[in-house]
Amino acid sequence: MIECENIKKSVIQNHYDVSTLFYRLLWGQHIHHGFWSADESPSIAQIQLTQELAKLAGIQRDSVVYDIGCGMGGSSRWLAKNLDCRVTGVTLSPLQRFWAATESRLGQYKTRPKFLRADAEVIDFPAQSANAVWSIECTEHLFDKPAFFARAARWIKPGGCFALCAWLAGESPMTDTQIAEATKVCEGMFCPSLGSQSDYVSWFEKAGLEVRVKTICTAQVKQTWEICRKRVERTGVRYLAKVLGKNHVLFLDHFDAILNAYDSGAMEYGMFVASKPDSSNN
Ligand SMILES: C[S@@+](CC[C@H](N)C(=O)[O-])C[C@H]1O[C@@H](n2cnc3c(N)ncnc32)[C@H](O)[C@@H]1O
Repeated sequence: MIECENIKKSVIQNHYDVSTLFYRLLWGQHIHHGFWSADESPSIAQIQLTQELAKLAGIQRDSVVYDIGCGMGGSSRWLAKNLDCRVTGVTLSPLQRFWAATESRLGQYKTRPKFLRADAEVIDFPAQSANAVWSIECTEHLFDKPAFFARAARWIKPGGCFALCAWLAGESPMTDTQIAEATKVCEGMFCPSLGSQSDYVSWFEKAGLEVRVKTICTAQVKQTWEICRKRVERTGVRYLAKVLGKNHVLFLDHFDAILNAYDSGAMEYGMFVASKPDSSNN
C-alpha cells in the first residue's frame, strides 16, 4: 500500500466542495473514469463504467443501495432510473449533496434517490439493511480502509454484495520510481493511501465477504485523463483554478502524473464485487 501522510480530511472536503464545478465543466455528472470498449464519447463511456459495475455485481431491480462517496449523484440516479433501486447517496461535501438532491428532483423515478452529507468513516446504517453497497472512486480518500470495509459489510443483507471501483497502487514490490509516481498522485488527488488489488481483497475477506470479481481495467479507463488534459488546455479552467486557490491548480497539474503512473504500473484501475454469504449472521 502507498501512504501519503500529509493529506487532511478538511482538504478532501474542500476539494470536492470547490472542484465539483470543474468536474461538471470538464467531464460530466459522473466524477469517475470512463470505460471504453471502442471510440465512444466520454459521456457514454462514463455511463458504461456504471453499467459495467452494475452488470458485474448483478444489481437486482428494486434493490436497496448505499452509494458511498456519491459525488453529484450520477450512479445513484442511474441505479434509481434504470433498475428502480432505492438509493441513499453519501458524500463528504455539502455542495455535492445539494447538487445531487437538486438534480434528482428533476427526473422521474419509482423511488427518488436520497442524499446525505456525512463522513463514510463515521456514518452507520442498520445491520443487514442493504442489498448492495456501491462505491466508485471514494475509498481512495478514506483513512482507515479496513475499518470502513468492516462496517460497510455489516450493512449488507446475506446474499447481497459490495460493488466497488478504485484507483489502485501496483502490487508490491514496486520500484522507487513507481512508489514516487504513486505518491505524487496521492498528493495531487488527496488520497491518504492507495491500496493494491491484493489489499482490497484482504479487506473484503477480513470483513466476511467473498470476492467474486476482481478485475484490472486500466486499459479501458486510462484515456479519461488524456481527454481531461486536452480539455484543460483548450479551456479557461486553469485560470478559474488559479483564482480559487493552489490546491485546485495542483489537481489540474496532476493529470500527467496519473497517466505516468498507469503507464509504469505504479497505479492500476480495479473493479471488485464481493458477496455476503447467505449463511452470514454478521
Ligand atoms: C472521485 S469522487 C466519486 C463520486 C461518485 N462516486 C461518482 O462516481 O460520480 C469521490 C467522492 O468521494 C467522496 N468522499 C471522499 N471522502 C469521503 C468520506 N470520508 N465520506 C464520504 N464521502 C467521501 C467525495 O465527497 C466524492 O463525492
